[in-house]
Amino acid sequence: MNHKLFQPFKLGAISLNNRIVMAPMTRCRAGEDDIPTALMATYYAQRATAGLIITEGTPVSLKARGYLWTPGIYTQQQMGGWAQICNAVHQAGGKLFMQIWHVGRISHSSLQPDAGAPEGPTDELSSDTVCFAFDDEGNPGNVSTSQPIAIDGDGIQRIKDEFVQAALNATQAGLDGVEIHGANGYLFDEFLNSITNTRQDEYGGSIENRCRFLLEVVDAVSDAIGAERTGVRISPNGRFNDIPEDPEMEATFTFLSHELNKRGIAFLHINDQGTFGLPSIPEGLIPKIRDVFSGTIILCGGYDAERAKNAIDQGIADLVAFGMPFIANPDLPARLEQGWLLNEPDRETFYGGAEQGYTDYPYYQK
Ligand code: PHB
Repeated sequence: MNHKLFQPFKLGAISLNNRIVMAPMTRCRAGEDDIPTALMATYYAQRATAGLIITEGTPVSLKARGYLWTPGIYTQQQMGGWAQICNAVHQAGGKLFMQIWHVGRISHSSLQPDAGAPEGPTDELSSDTVCFAFDDEGNPGNVSTSQPIAIDGDGIQRIKDEFVQAALNATQAGLDGVEIHGANGYLFDEFLNSITNTRQDEYGGSIENRCRFLLEVVDAVSDAIGAERTGVRISPNGRFNDIPEDPEMEATFTFLSHELNKRGIAFLHINDQGTFGLPSIPEGLIPKIRDVFSGTIILCGGYDAERAKNAIDQGIADLVAFGMPFIANPDLPARLEQGWLLNEPDRETFYGGAEQGYTDYPYYQK
């Protein structure tokens, strides 16, 4: 009998062919007006033997963007592009959730409506942080993030509405569900952290207050499309995008996981930033989260077949997500199951460009 990793799994109302997840990865290959392209449909369909694909981060509005050429989900044309991707993946037997995304303060005014300021929990600028936008000469490139403005009460409500609309648009386009991006130093992670969130209102200060925005968005999206189609991604102890070490980290993520458990969401997806060359999740925290979250847990960050099997055998993961290995190996599940050699990813072609380094990685040849 093959290992559980390669066996089907019931995720809410849908059935996955195996427990291998393609992690969300920014590839910056959307077309004009951030409309997903036919090439993106080819890329995702090539990887449809994953039990579940979680798409690249998909901004919920113009203000939610921090990188050029990330596909959106806030116009009819974008929905049409996503419908093509969903058809291709479903025809190939796969399932896909869309990662819905607001970058918070990790943005540049050249990406913002009317060249305005990005929006964050406060007006504090992230230091030494770049996003991918237009430089002073109007050329695309890595640029320092711009001074943000603090989101006010109306902004909180608008962003909630944008997430709800994005989830409705995604499911209408054919996605099987959505993952709310609560990780990696973007909007919700900035609210969760006790150092970056010094707000004086009900969205800052105590653990309950710092978790409130994300939980309200989870509730609103769940009401709109169903909790069983709503997942959440977090990165406890993350430092990416200038998130500082937080003395309240463990307490915050344990409280948040417990609250998410009450809501019966589709999954909790935990990203370990060790593979970003940053600190890992401290040993012991994932079992603590497992104790308070009885739903589906996806673990991500530096897994190979052995570590993935172990995590499932230990009961700390139900599904395991793979990022970079999926870039270079469209047939990753078969390679993991058969123990076949993996192609190495080429970092030079991770972001932007066309077929090269995107849809031209070879399938395994026996
Ligand atoms: C990236 O573009 O480097 C990126 C985007 C979203 C993430 C992490 C990294 O969650």
